[in-house]
Amino acid sequence: MTPKSFHPKRYWVALLGVILAALAFPATALAHGPVSGGVKTDVFNELFTTMMWIATPIFVIVEVLLLFAIIRYRRRSHDEMPEQVHGNTPLELSWTIGAFVIIAVVFVLGYRVMQDQHLVSAGPDSEFTPDMTVHVYGYMFNWDYEYYLADGEDTDVMTTRDLYIPANKNVLLEISSRDVQHSFWVPKLAGKVDAVPGYTNTMLLNVDKPGTYEGQCAEYCGLNHYAMAINVHVMEPADFDAWLSNQITQENEFQPVGTDLSVELPNGNSDEGEQLIYDLGCTACHAVDKDQPSGPAFDRMSMDAHHVEGYSPEQYLHESIVLPCAQLAEGYDQCIMPQDYGERMDAEDLADIIAYITSVDRYEPGLQPGPNK
Ligand code: CUA
Repeated sequence: MTPKSFHPKRYWVALLGVILAALAFPATALAHGPVSGGVKTDVFNELFTTMMWIATPIFVIVEVLLLFAIIRYRRRSHDEMPEQVHGNTPLELSWTIGAFVIIAVVFVLGYRVMQDQHLVSAGPDSEFTPDMTVHVYGYMFNWDYEYYLADGEDTDVMTTRDLYIPANKNVLLEISSRDVQHSFWVPKLAGKVDAVPGYTNTMLLNVDKPGTYEGQCAEYCGLNHYAMAINVHVMEPADFDAWLSNQITQENEFQPVGTDLSVELPNGNSDEGEQLIYDLGCTACHAVDKDQPSGPAFDRMSMDAHHVEGYSPEQYLHESIVLPCAQLAEGYDQCIMPQDYGERMDAEDLADIIAYITSVDRYEPGLQPGPNK
C-alpha cells in the first residue's frame, strides 16, 4: 500500500471553512431569549448573550484543535506509527488555570443575576416595593395561591393552579411547599425557584405583556408530577382589580361546608361540578375513567359509592371529599389528598361535585374533564 500524500493546503482550507461556518452563526442569532415579558427581562437576556459570547469561541477553538489533532496526527499508512506526544506541563497548567478563571467568571455573572432575581428582599429598603404579594404553595399535585395586598392585608382569596396577577406591577411571590420539594417554573417569566417545605423562596415578577403564561413543576415530586401545571394569567391592572374585588366579595359571602357529614346539601348541578373539579385542581390526581396512582377515577368512585354499607352514594362521596382519609378506595393504602376541601367549598360546590361524580358514567371512555366547553 502506498502512503497517501499529505496536502497541508487541503486541510487548512477545510479548517478555514469550519471557522467561517462557525462565525456565520453569531451567538446572538442563537440567543433567542428564554424570557419575554418577565421582570427585568434584559438582565436574563444579557446574561444569556454574554454566556454565548464566552462559550462560542471556546467551542470553536475546541473543535478546531480536535480537527487539527485528527488530521495532523492521523496514521498515514499501516507500517507507520504516528507521532506520540506525552505531557506538556506549561500547557496543562495553563488550561487548568484558564478553565478555572472562565468558570469563576461565569459563576459570578450567573450568581449576580440569581441574587437579583430570586433573592429579592421585599423590605422597605428594597429597590422593589411589591404592589402585591402572593403566597404560593406547592403540594402533591397542585399549586395554591393566596393573595395579599400591598400593605400585607390578607384578602382571603385563594386560587388553585391558575395564578392571576396585574401587568406592570411588582408582584412578589413567596414560594413554599406543603409536603415534598417542588419547583415553580414559568419559563417565559423567570427561572426555576424551588418550593421547599419549611422555607420560603421569593420571586419578583413585573410582567409587561398581558396574557397567559404556562409553567410546570420542575422537580420530580411523585407519580403525578407531570400534572402540576401552572397557568399565570397576566391581566390589565383595571381588569385585575375588578377580578380581585369580585373574588373578595365571593370570599366574604363564602360559607365553607366544613367536615360535618350531617349537613344538608342542596340539589347539585353536574355541569357546575365539572367546572369545579377543574378549578379546585381535583383533575391533577383524578381522571374520569382510569384509576391513577394518585387517586381513583371518578367513574370508579361513582360505582363504589353504590356499594358501601351504611351509606347512600351521596353520603359516601360527601365523606370522601371532606374527610378523604376516613376510608380509602381499594388498592390505595396511603391518603395523600389534602384534607381541607371542607374549607375550600360551600354546600353548593360540594353538592355540584357530588352531582358531577355520580353522573360521570355519561362520559365516553377517554374523555377528560376540563373547563366548561
Ligand atoms: Cu411538584 Cu413535581
